[in-house]
Amino acid sequence: KEIHEQPKAIRDTMTGRVSLNEKINLGDFKLTSEELENMDRIYIVACGTAYNAGLMGKVAIEDLARIPVEVAIASEFRYRDPLITDRTLIIVVSQSGETADTLAVLRDGKKQGARVLAITNVVGSSVSREAHDVIYTLAGPEIAVASTKAYVTQLAAFYILGLYFASLKETMTNEEIETIKAELLQIPNKIDKALKMKDSLQKFASTHYNHKDMYFLGRGLDYAVAMEGSLKLKEISYIHCDAYAGGELKHGPIALIEKNTAVITLLTQESLKDKMISNVREVSTRGGNIFAVVNEGDTTTKEVVDDLVYIPKTIDILTPLISVVPLQLISYYVAKQKGCDVDKPRNLAKSVTVE
Ligand code: M6R
Repeated sequence: KEIHEQPKAIRDTMTGRVSLNEKINLGDFKLTSEELENMDRIYIVACGTAYNAGLMGKVAIEDLARIPVEVAIASEFRYRDPLITDRTLIIVVSQSGETADTLAVLRDGKKQGARVLAITNVVGSSVSREAHDVIYTLAGPEIAVASTKAYVTQLAAFYILGLYFASLKETMTNEEIETIKAELLQIPNKIDKALKMKDSLQKFASTHYNHKDMYFLGRGLDYAVAMEGSLKLKEISYIHCDAYAGGELKHGPIALIEKNTAVITLLTQESLKDKMISNVREVSTRGGNIFAVVNEGDTTTKEVVDDLVYIPKTIDILTPLISVVPLQLISYYVAKQKGCDVDKPRNLAKSVTVE
């Protein structure tokens, strides 16, 4: 249900904030160009799926606004001695707004003088009350332990923030910003389409649900999505899985590939596709069984993989909003095949309010 609510969740998150020929409107979160220029660093800090969204947030802000960003896991960041001053912006991301480690980072950051911006889904949550500024994701209540619609709305929030910073810093022309906004506004319809492409995903699940291990491979943004796909699958199907950057394959993980090892690959980033195809060949030479997520119109990948799903095409930077959908569905179908409770996986809580 929540996977299918994603088009609406993204639409709601964009409403009032992204309109053609109007400036990005983030409500009360307002910065001047001078304030942005004056910032010494930006951290994005979060846990689990929200951290994975942060990986994408870094790319959105760096690519669009050319501002360097560091992403950190909250439970690591809080025990480091990070470089925080009164010119630092800490962006905490939390669906629930109650995650203990994320909240600790927010509080410590404030004590050290940082400005804290929260991206959260829950109005009135601790994070929303204690941060200096808030961007709400409007995913609606997310009940299932495995985060899905919150994740895509966190991505949407980061794209919007990236565009906001880009216009303040004038790193993009108005035309370029309008092009990305127009594409963003199309995303809900494209996710609707992606949600209908289920056949090969169901087939993959019914063939591979008995595996003990699975691997995800991608490069660039596809790697960040692979990490989220891997978290989703392990969380609800209890299959051990890992995500690797394609280029890392040769540095160790390839030793794990044998006949029938299931490998889910993403090849949505045009500039990295040839490199990924080489990685796919390395896996298939060793007998691995490869499932691929590719863009509509891709004519080459099907020659080198065992099966694939086509997703509606958008511009590369926005593709994660769509490419994560088949991965969520694979996790769902695999878990169903195994008879797992897809909403309440064992050992996990929706909101981790203790260390
Ligand atoms: O509520 P939060 O976004 O702070 O939660 C962070 C993680 O606990 C959460 O994303 C967790 O990893 C999910 N179960 C993933 O599906």
